[in-house]
Amino acid sequence: MQAMRISGGRPLSGHIKISGAKNAALPALAASLLAREPVLLRRMPNVVDIRTMANLLASIGAGVEARPDSYLIQAAGDLDPVAPYELVKTMRASSLVLGPLAARCGRARVSLPGGCAIGSRPIDMHLDGLKTLGATVRQDHGYIEAVAPSGGLIGGRIQFRRPTVTGTEDLLMAATLANGESVLENAACEPEVVDLADLLTKMGARIDGAGTPTIRVDGVDELTGAEHAIIPDRIETGTYLIAGALAGGELSLEGTCRQHLEPVIAKMRQAGCLIESPDDSTLVLRQTPQLLSVDVTTREHPGFPTDMQAQFMALMTQAEGTSNVVETVFENRFMHVLELQRMGADITIGGNTAVVRGKAALTGTDVMASDLRASASLVLAALAANGTTTVHRIYHLQRGYDRLAEKLTGVGASIEFIDE
Ligand code: EPZ
Repeated sequence: MQAMRISGGRPLSGHIKISGAKNAALPALAASLLAREPVLLRRMPNVVDIRTMANLLASIGAGVEARPDSYLIQAAGDLDPVAPYELVKTMRASSLVLGPLAARCGRARVSLPGGCAIGSRPIDMHLDGLKTLGATVRQDHGYIEAVAPSGGLIGGRIQFRRPTVTGTEDLLMAATLANGESVLENAACEPEVVDLADLLTKMGARIDGAGTPTIRVDGVDELTGAEHAIIPDRIETGTYLIAGALAGGELSLEGTCRQHLEPVIAKMRQAGCLIESPDDSTLVLRQTPQLLSVDVTTREHPGFPTDMQAQFMALMTQAEGTSNVVETVFENRFMHVLELQRMGADITIGGNTAVVRGKAALTGTDVMASDLRASASLVLAALAANGTTTVHRIYHLQRGYDRLAEKLTGVGASIEFIDE
């Protein structure tokens, strides 16, 4: 197991190239199961979760060819529509194969994903949606078994009780091959949902309204192959914006998409960060004179993303004043607070609100990573801390950040890996 040792107090300056979005790449890989022809996905991030999903597709029987930053997937022959426990337990997003397999093969058997650090994370809305499309769904021995009617899934009206990103993606994929029209109401509007719809449309699907709460799908008999470049990672981008604001200096983030990050840019500007956008794919963070405390509440897109909550909290520890950070999407997404407190942050939790009092002097120490974004917030805090911080269990980071240490050291951070 590896740890990351970070020496704080060094300003960052230079250029960082943003990778493809993990949370767009995962549904795109699952979507390739819907066609018999090859699907070429480009700008794929080099992260563990993508390799896990690729392994899952291969175990199902798809041909998988990994190239430097792209994947060629061909689900040509008969598939074995099973997602085994040993793969699903390492990545809950494996449930994204449920819809495609039920639609393509008429049945799917997927291990129920367990809970995770940030919450119980049920998939009831995924299952209810498949039932609405005519599937029979039952659970046995920790597996979900979904079986489509003999003539295939039947278009229907799916109403989500609350927006769900992968639930919307799962059922959008299932609906593309269902008989007749489907409507997804109260659907998630994240950019990753829109990117999936763009890929499915290239594959011949008939979709209208992706990116809005109501998505209409006219089912077709089959989908074709396609080539698609994944959108850039807005959460990676936001993470580096905050790294620059915390460490000081000037950073240019390239190959990103400003539009996808509007809510985060707006909040950071309220906090006093100087962010420029010379063009739609470049964000430049200038030296931040003084950070100001601002309140933030996470919401579904286009609100402030929950995946930036932990990182933004690290920023607020260095701002003058009091900031209320409210988490409304997950029930337990404050795992980073205890570790930030050990570094000297002044944070009090009350229910789903964390009250952050700054500016707190952070000092380097040993901290434990728990989930992907909590781990990122510890790395960011370490950049601003006085002294050396060792972040343990960094495999959490490697699941979702493409060469994080390499990109940060490339702009002046002092980070080394240690085996433990
Ligand atoms: C996606 O998870 C992302 N993962 C998460 O990113 C992200 O935090 C989350 O959306 C919210 O934006 C991927 O895209 C692979 P949800 P997802 O379904 O789809 C509840 C990261 O760090 N819910 O939108 O699993 C759920 O418990 C990861 O990259 C149900 O109750 O999230 C949560 O409280 C972490 N029943 C809320 O809805 C369901 O059937 C929103 O979850 C589904 C969800």
